Amino acid sequence: MQYFATSTLPSSQQTDCVTVAVFEQGELSPSATLVNEQSNGYISKIIDRGDISGSVGETLLLQDVAGLKSPRLLLVGCGKKDDTTENQFNTAIGAMIKVLDNSGADDATSYLSEIKVKSRTVEWNVQQTVITAESNLYKYTQTKPSVKATVQPIKSITFFSENSSTQSASDSGLAIANGMSLARTLGDLPGNVCTPTYLADQAVELGKRYNSVTTTILEEADMAELGMHSLLSVSRGSREPAKLITMNYQGAGDDRPVVLVGKGLTFDAGGISLKPSQGMDEMKYDMCGSAGVFGTISAIAELNLAINVIGVVPSSENMPDGDANKPGDIVTSMAGKTIEILNTDAEGRLILCDALSYSERFNPEIVIDIATLTGAIIVALGRQATGVFANDQTLADDLLKAGNDSHDRVWQLPLWDEYQSQLDSNFADIANIGGKEAGSVTAACFLSRFTEKFTWAHLDVAGTAWNSGGKAKGATGRPVPLLVQYLLNRIDDKK
Ligand code: BES
Ligand code: MN
Ligand code: ZN
Repeated sequence: MQYFATSTLPSSQQTDCVTVAVFEQGELSPSATLVNEQSNGYISKIIDRGDISGSVGETLLLQDVAGLKSPRLLLVGCGKKDDTTENQFNTAIGAMIKVLDNSGADDATSYLSEIKVKSRTVEWNVQQTVITAESNLYKYTQTKPSVKATVQPIKSITFFSENSSTQSASDSGLAIANGMSLARTLGDLPGNVCTPTYLADQAVELGKRYNSVTTTILEEADMAELGMHSLLSVSRGSREPAKLITMNYQGAGDDRPVVLVGKGLTFDAGGISLKPSQGMDEMKYDMCGSAGVFGTISAIAELNLAINVIGVVPSSENMPDGDANKPGDIVTSMAGKTIEILNTDAEGRLILCDALSYSERFNPEIVIDIATLTGAIIVALGRQATGVFANDQTLADDLLKAGNDSHDRVWQLPLWDEYQSQLDSNFADIANIGGKEAGSVTAACFLSRFTEKFTWAHLDVAGTAWNSGGKAKGATGRPVPLLVQYLLNRIDDKK
């Protein structure tokens, strides 16, 4: 899809479809008011008849309305006037795009950008419209070719805006949306296709697509040389060779980089601590942290951002096998710390700790890891918020702000030393589980033992990176909006 901006009023706009907002209680947006006047009260008449009430997500497609150059007029319900929430705005945009994509229109002009969403700006409305539109148009077809393409899909949307600053908002929206759809595709692909080798190939592709991205892949032998025996112990239980993928995006000379470490566990059966079979298919999504890193790197490369970002992806399967980790096994991490593996299903932290130690070599300004790390985070926060933990409050605050700005929100949990003793082991420096209580916190505590040398945050995306079960089952593309927003804000703050 393509996106443009215009300052032309609805009556004179040459387009296949004009889209305006109507609200509850018969209230109209400024553009709807104009169209209503030019059509002798046609919209009011329709509202009076009761064909549309203005509630959020309602739509009514009209043809050949008097006073318009456009053959179509789409009314979209946006709830209470001047009191639309972000969530309601996204619902309205989602409803709009579904109608447009099936209307026969090639292009449309959206006057929904003018409505008041909480304290958001027009730029926010535009960026969000692009993201939400693209998300709604996402179709997974890789292993389901029978999915039919829309007969005459919508090809472009033009936004109404009185100032010209919306183009860059729409550009970042599109880059974020493209990053999200890459992340969703990688997540949705099955474990027998999306293996560690497949992820490594995707990273090589990204390096070919963008001159600014350099990819390197470490093999198991390389990792053994570096002493990554924690990571390798997980991979030993699988026939698929592990990969350590590095994607180096250079957009700011020799500035210290932000390092993003993404959990790339392409299938988590639990290992010898085998998971129950119910819903186990969803553990193909255990690489969604890495998918978020792929999506973010592709978005910032598309936008040519003036920042250095390095994506580090430890990738492996976690399978039960004669050679797999056994409960009670003790391994030595790259950092030299010994780890007692009391539960082989707590494998994410075992691959991440070595990837975090590896990140030290980049002299990072910031390290953020992104991982589908614990089921407990879904119990705590549901699917609305990503959990954030940090050893630096400024970084936590920056991520909270980026979450708010992008509406891809995070919520902070504690990383107090009072929790650390839950990881005590009789036989090693640290145990890989911390008991029943505060499972997401002790997982973060485990990682914190390997991040003492840099400013670090951990994002637990187990609840937010995919939708579970039924028709909604699928990757969400989160936290690509959060991460790109964080990087955009960082560049702005440095100006
Ligand atoms: N990949 C899982 C976390 C997970 C669970 C994500 C459910 C999404 C939904 C992780 O490797 C895992 O198995 N964690 C265990 C940790 C436990 C053994 C301490 C968990 O959450 O049950
Ligand atoms: Mn697991
Ligand atoms: Zn896992």
